[in-house]
Amino acid sequence: MNTSVHASPSVQTGLTSATAAMAAVADPADVPRPLQPSGPCSPWWGLPLLRDMRADYLGFVTRLHQQHGDLTRMRLGYEDAWDLMHPDLVREALITHADQLIRWERGMEVFEQVFGQSVLVTEGATWQRQRRMLMPAFTPKRVAGYAQLMTDAARRALDAAVPAGQGRALVPVDALWTDVAMDVILRTLFSESAQADARDAAWATQTLSEAAFREMFMPFTLPDWLPLPGKADKRRALRALKGLVQRHIDARQSEAPVADGASGKPERSDLLHMLLALRDESTGETLSPQEVLDQCLVTFQAGHETSATTLLWWTTLMAQHPEAAERARAEVDAVLQGGVPGPEHLAQLPWLGATLKEALRLYPPIAALMNRRTTAPITLGGVAVPQGALLRITPWVLHRDARWFAQPEQFQPERFLDGAPPIPKGAWIPFGLGPRVCIGQHFAMLG
Ligand code: HEM
Repeated sequence: MNTSVHASPSVQTGLTSATAAMAAVADPADVPRPLQPSGPCSPWWGLPLLRDMRADYLGFVTRLHQQHGDLTRMRLGYEDAWDLMHPDLVREALITHADQLIRWERGMEVFEQVFGQSVLVTEGATWQRQRRMLMPAFTPKRVAGYAQLMTDAARRALDAAVPAGQGRALVPVDALWTDVAMDVILRTLFSESAQADARDAAWATQTLSEAAFREMFMPFTLPDWLPLPGKADKRRALRALKGLVQRHIDARQSEAPVADGASGKPERSDLLHMLLALRDESTGETLSPQEVLDQCLVTFQAGHETSATTLLWWTTLMAQHPEAAERARAEVDAVLQGGVPGPEHLAQLPWLGATLKEALRLYPPIAALMNRRTTAPITLGGVAVPQGALLRITPWVLHRDARWFAQPEQFQPERFLDGAPPIPKGAWIPFGLGPRVCIGQHFAMLG
């Protein structure tokens, strides 16, 4: 497929040949698509726009798209902010120009304070080295090895939630999925999940995530020792999470023979074992102790809330659409025949997979804020974008565009089944795109 929006009649409509067929589902007049970026004019260097964004960010970007088209530009304080709302533009930025982009510095400053120099925040050669080293731990084949740990976590949570002998129970699903997601992370990282650890880690992750969200929208981070609201909790959460991870690392290192397989015990299959054993293919280097700690910490942050949110929305949608839930149940029963689910069953559960993809389309956990900074001038759809521009990509808007998804507000898992009209590349991006695509995506889809 074309990766750019050219200056041709199809440009004005924002469509390439491969996606034009999909246009039939929308009235082209709904979404004006300019040749040049347009955007809202605002006095006071865009400060009123910032206020609107704060009030309802997703609503703001949705309106921006409806009023100004696929590529918009606005001044926000000292920022030259561009929004990319066409799959081709998103691909052109995140794939073609990946080398001329870095992540939004302010977001990374905030994350770095908590998660150190992990793969989520590093750039350039350091990121390349870390990503290269970590990839083997996250390949579909490797991730399949964590399946048993995930099944154990789900079984434990459901057994705890549904009293023995009862087929059904009323449970607060947000707490249930928060527990399951944390249990999965703890077990896949360390092969074990003590209840106290799970509780502490869930509280700490949530607290750190709220602190990060607050701080991201401030121009700088005030020192944590200041007696400001939320700072004491942030300090405690950071101490708790780092302490928990370090305890597991220390315990593992003191049982080195297990990792060597010399004790006769079976080798561990967890992520910490992988992280400690990773070798850079070209240099033979291992991850430093600090890097192992940071990668464990980032797994909590990147993996917990995203997975719990996905499960929560999926459950909500299934409850709202009992016929879809029944079809999924029948499919699972037919394939598993009462057995334990494993990675080998995934391909035989297309409907279940489609319901999950549709949940990720309607409610992507990272709905906005995949921000990048241009480190060199680039062009997008033939439009010159200067160095230093802030590019914003909002999966929420892409996922609800009637050109790619007919009746976009409706839950229709069929659109992800074989034989459905093709979805243009770049239109469904819950895990991002390009070299910085989510490293945990196979993990998340399996979980
Ligand atoms: C449903 C669950 C998940 C969703 C929707 C999700 C989504 C994403 C997205 C959108 C990005 C890219 C952000 C950007 O381009 O700026 C990302 C990156 C990342 N994700 Fe996930 N994620 C999920 C689960 C996980 C899990 C389970 C892990 C780890 C076990 C994980 C680890 C990471 C890491 C380390 C990165 C940074 C990769 C890099 O910059 O090279 N994610 N995720």
